[in-house]
Amino acid sequence: MSASYPSTRLRRSRASGWSRALHRETALTPADLIWPLFVTEGEGVEEPVGSLPGVSRWSVDGIAARAKEAVALGIPCVALFPNTPPDRRSDDGAEALNPDNLMCRAIRAIKQACGSDVGVLTDVALDPYTSHGQDGLVDEDGYVVNDDTVAVLVDQALNQAEAGADIIAPSDMMDGRIKAIRMALEMGDHHNVQIMSYAAKYASAFYGPFRDAVGSGGLLKGDKKTYQMDPANAQEALREVEFDIAEGADSVMVKPGLPYLDIVRRVKEQFDVPVFAYQVSGEYAMIEAAAAAGAGERDALVMETLMAFKRAGCSGVLTYHAPLAAKLLNG
Ligand code: PBG
Repeated sequence: MSASYPSTRLRRSRASGWSRALHRETALTPADLIWPLFVTEGEGVEEPVGSLPGVSRWSVDGIAARAKEAVALGIPCVALFPNTPPDRRSDDGAEALNPDNLMCRAIRAIKQACGSDVGVLTDVALDPYTSHGQDGLVDEDGYVVNDDTVAVLVDQALNQAEAGADIIAPSDMMDGRIKAIRMALEMGDHHNVQIMSYAAKYASAFYGPFRDAVGSGGLLKGDKKTYQMDPANAQEALREVEFDIAEGADSVMVKPGLPYLDIVRRVKEQFDVPVFAYQVSGEYAMIEAAAAAGAGERDALVMETLMAFKRAGCSGVLTYHAPLAAKLLNG
C-alpha cells in the first residue's frame, strides 16, 4: 500500500446516487412547508405583486382554491396576510377587529373548502390595517406603545380564532403578548388553537416586497427598530424565545431565514422546541433575481435553501416557493 493512499475516503459514499440517498442526513418533504398567501378584495381577482415575481394577491375565492392546491400538494398549512383597502386603514387599525374583514372571510372560505385538511396560520399585528404602517398603536411622538397595543392584539387574535384560525402567529414583537393572547384563547374556549410566536424577528431590510404586497410599504414612516430586533444580537433572541415559551407559545419562529440560521441552530440546541423559519419576501426576491439574471438555477437554489433550514434544525419553513418546492419533491 502506497503511503500516499488516504486511509479514509469520504468520497466513496458520494460516488453514486443510491449511496448519496443512503447517506443523506436530512429529509425535506412537502409536509415541512407553510405557504404564505396574500388576500385582496373582489371576486375572481389575481393581482401579481411586482416585487415578488410569481406571487399574486388573490381574492377570497382564489385563496380557497390555493388552499385546495396546498392540500393536493401535501402542504399542511397556509399563512394569510391581507391587503386591506386604503379606506379601511386607520390610526388604530380597528379593521383588524372586524369579524368580516378580509382575513376572517379568507379563513372561513378555506375552512369551508378544505375542512381540517389544511391548517390556517394567521398573522397578528396591526400593520396591514394601520394608516401609518406600524405594527401597533403609536403615541404623539410616533413611538409604538406596548401594553395598549397588546390589548388590541388580543382582540385581533380572538377575532381570528372565532373565524376558525388554527395557529395564531403574532409577528408584532410587543413584550408580553404571548401570555395575554394565550390567556384570552383559553378563556374563550379556544384550547386547541396554537400559537406560533414570531419570537426572534429582526428589523430587517428583507421585508420590502412583503410591505408592497400588503400595501403598507408606502405608508410606513421610519422603521420598526424600537420593537423588532437588532440584527447584531443573538443572545437577545434566546431571551425572546425563552419568554415566549414560558408565556405559552407552542412553537417559535426565526425571521428572516437564511441570514439567521445561526439563531435557528442556537434556539434548537438550547430549548429543543419546534422551531420554524420564515424565508421572507426579500429572500424569495433574491432567488428570483438570481435565476432571472442567469446567476443560478431556480429549482436548485430553492431546494438547497430549504434543505439548509431543515439541516439547521427547523421543523418547517414558511416560504413563497412552497408550491414549487412541493411539486419538485412530489416529482
Ligand atoms: C408584519 C409582518 C412582516 C412580515 C410578516 N409579518 C413585515 C414587517 O414586519 O414589516 C414580513 C414577511 C416577508 O417579508 O415575507 N408584522
